[in-house]
Amino acid sequence: MESCSPNLPDFWRTRLSLLPLTARHMLTSFPQLARWGRALAALAGLTLVSGCDFNFWRMDGHQSTIVVEGPVAREQLQVFYVTCWVSLVIFVIVAAVLAYATFKFKARTESDEHAEPPPQSHGNPLVELGLIGASVLALVVIAIPTLKAIWSTYDVPEAERKEAFVVNGTGYQWWFKFEYPSELVPINDQGAKAPLVTGNELVIPVGRPVRINLRTVDVIHSFWVPKLAGKVDMIPNRANHLYLKAEKAGYYWGQCAEYCGDSHAVMRFRVIALEKKEFAEWLEQQSSLARNVAPRADEASRPRAQFAALRSFKQNEAGITDKFDVNPLEAWRAKQLPEKNEDSRLISQGRELFKAKACIGCHTVRGHDGMGVTAPDLTHFGSRSTLAAGLIENNTEQLRRWIRDPGSVKPGNKMALAYARVERDGKAVDGIKLTTEEEVALAAYLESLK
Ligand code: CUA
Repeated sequence: MESCSPNLPDFWRTRLSLLPLTARHMLTSFPQLARWGRALAALAGLTLVSGCDFNFWRMDGHQSTIVVEGPVAREQLQVFYVTCWVSLVIFVIVAAVLAYATFKFKARTESDEHAEPPPQSHGNPLVELGLIGASVLALVVIAIPTLKAIWSTYDVPEAERKEAFVVNGTGYQWWFKFEYPSELVPINDQGAKAPLVTGNELVIPVGRPVRINLRTVDVIHSFWVPKLAGKVDMIPNRANHLYLKAEKAGYYWGQCAEYCGDSHAVMRFRVIALEKKEFAEWLEQQSSLARNVAPRADEASRPRAQFAALRSFKQNEAGITDKFDVNPLEAWRAKQLPEKNEDSRLISQGRELFKAKACIGCHTVRGHDGMGVTAPDLTHFGSRSTLAAGLIENNTEQLRRWIRDPGSVKPGNKMALAYARVERDGKAVDGIKLTTEEEVALAAYLESLK
């Protein structure tokens, strides 16, 4: 055969030339092989499609448990690896024995195929005791780091307990409330004080253990920040907690990890870890009452803006811009400063609307009449990077999308109920209705709350 390399030993040359024949024979005798082949090709295709995404291969997505950024998540990752290695060793041994038996004892001739099975035996004490011993050993190897990790990640280590920062996290359908019991802030201009409350964005200091008391007001939720720690359920009438620590400043994705109703999948939150100084500045800014933007006299002559109607959004359309995605921590920092070109008249119109449309019944805005506690505290809403429980970016367009039709962004949420037409005392009553101008004014007001 000229086409085949003459240097190849005869043995391999005959085998290689038989390869296409063997493949065809296998495909016709085992049709499932063809199906596996197609599945493999599809998998390879998928891998190629995601080939440009470096993070895919590093397994470093927003919610990666493999590339972690804190000691708690790291210890949990170690347990995962131990389990993987033990499973791999068992797999290799079992697969090797299986392969050996398959090839060694396969039928080679016609008579082999019809031969009587060899005498069957069982009950070899050495093999059975050996297997029991090996299984126990495998379980012990997994159990030791597992128990150690359960013990050490259960709560802030004794030595660090003094410097631990305490936060109360509460699950609601479908958002998270974070309360800072050590930070008392004014709730009105008469000097009354209450703990600082934020919604859906948990800001923590870098390098300090943070103990989070986990509660819920309705159903079971679960608190999970994959890169930092996870996950612990928020259970009605049960005091759970979790501790985590961020090793460096960063922006971390969190997710409710227990099915809790319509919008469970979009019940998200963010953890923002800041260096000591920046964290202190953030606390200072959050402690103030809501920002007042009085209508400026010099703006009285400014012509009223014409408001463009909001474009329509597809169902489940993503609401995060590319710029935000590239550097979310910088995007978050940029949100801390008041926007240039604020329209003070629009903002004060929005503030009036916030009362007139009864938003204050559910939302707190410290210093601006709002005292509701069933929905997120909005005192410093404009300084958050996301809205609708971490689902969409906090910018004017997305905020208008949310204000106009919250039910289309987060199905079943309580704010959407306020927009529905309801029956009251036998009469049909309209829910909240907003004109384009009102929508823009409300968005301007909320964005001004830095
Ligand atoms: Cu809350 Cu799932």
